[in-house]
Amino acid sequence: MVQTKIWDKSELAAAVKAIKRGALVAFPSETVYGLGADAFNDTAVSKVYAAKGRPSDNPLIVHVADIEQVGRVALVNTWAEKLMAAFWPGPLTMILPVKPDTVSATVTGGLDTVAVRMPDNDLTRELIRLTDTPLVGPSANTSGKPSPTTAQHVFHDLHGKIAGVLDDGATKIGVESTVIDLSTEQPAVLRPGKITPAQLEAVLGVTIDSELKHVSADEAPKAPGMKYRHYAPDKAVYMVADDDWTAAIVWAQGRLEPVGLMLTNNQIAKHQLSGMDFVWSLGANEDTAAANLFAGLRRFDDWAEVTTILVTALPDIAQNAAYNNRLGKASGGHWVNELFD
Ligand code: TXA
Ligand code: MG
Repeated sequence: MVQTKIWDKSELAAAVKAIKRGALVAFPSETVYGLGADAFNDTAVSKVYAAKGRPSDNPLIVHVADIEQVGRVALVNTWAEKLMAAFWPGPLTMILPVKPDTVSATVTGGLDTVAVRMPDNDLTRELIRLTDTPLVGPSANTSGKPSPTTAQHVFHDLHGKIAGVLDDGATKIGVESTVIDLSTEQPAVLRPGKITPAQLEAVLGVTIDSELKHVSADEAPKAPGMKYRHYAPDKAVYMVADDDWTAAIVWAQGRLEPVGLMLTNNQIAKHQLSGMDFVWSLGANEDTAAANLFAGLRRFDDWAEVTTILVTALPDIAQNAAYNNRLGKASGGHWVNELFD
C-alpha cells in the first residue's frame, strides 16, 4: 500500500520523479482530473487499469504538452492540424491512426487508433514537458463512478493505489472532453463535451456524424468506454424536467428518508429551497451546472441517509449535450415521473 500524497504547485518535482520511476500521478485539467502514467512504460500503464478497476479493452487518452509529441504516437492528418490550431490546448480529444511501433496495445486497447489531447492546464503541461513523455490519462476515478473534479475526489477513490495527486483546485469545465474520431472517412463525435459538433464543423468545413455510437457487447467498439455504466453513484438517480420540480419536491417531502436535490439557483429560488439541507446548487447557468454535477453526485453518494438523488435535466440544446449525456448515464435513463403513482 502506497502513501498517496497531495502535492501543490511548488511540489511539481516530486510528481515528475514519480512518473519517471513508473508510478501513477493524478493531474488536473480543465475538464476532470486524469490518472497519469508514462505512455511508453507498459508496466506503469497496466497499473492505471488496476488502480481504476477498468476493463482492459477500454483504451486510454494520451496527453501531450505540445504538438510535436502527437507525432510520437499518432499519424497526424489535415483535419487534426486544423482542430489542434483551433481548440488546443482545450477540451477536445482526437482519435487518429496509431503510429506503428510506438505505444502498445495496453494503451490503445488493441485498436489501430490512438486518442490524443492537449489539456488546458499549465501545471499539467509542465509536468508532461519535464517528464519528457506523453502521459496516459483516463479520468482519475474508480471505474464506473463520477469523474473527479477536485484533488480530494481523486484521493477519496484512489488513495493507497497511486503515488500522488497534483492539486490545482476544482476543474473549470467539470465534464470530460469531446471525443472526435478522425480516423474514418467522415469525422464522428463519439462523446459529447464542451466543444459542440457545430464548432467542429465550422473549422473542418465538413459535416460531422454526431449520432452517438451506441455499442453493445458483441459489436466492434467505437468509443469502447461508452458501453459501460458510467458516472454512477451508488444511490438511485432520477432526472427531473424543469416543469416536474413541483411534483418532484412533493414526492421527496413525502419520503421518510432524505432525498438529495440538485438544481439551479433559479429553481432553488422559485421552489423556496434556499438554505435547506439536502439541496445541492448547480449554480447560475449551464456552465456552472456542468462544473458542479459530478461533485454533487459524489456529495450525496457519501451521505449515508440519502438513498435517492433527483437532478435537473437541462433543455435539450447542443450546449447542454455533455451535461445531459453524463446525467443520462448516471441515472440509467430514469426520470422522476416513474416514481409518481
Ligand atoms: O476530459 C477528458 O477526456 C479526461 C481528462 C483527464 O483528459 N479523460 C477521460 O479519459 O475522460 P477516459 O479514459 O475516462 O475516457 C476516454 C474515452 C473512453 O470512452 C474511451 O473508450 C475513448 O475515450 N477512447 C480512447 N481511445 C480510443 C480509441 N482509440 N478509439 C475510440 N475511443 C477511444
Ligand atoms: Mg472516465
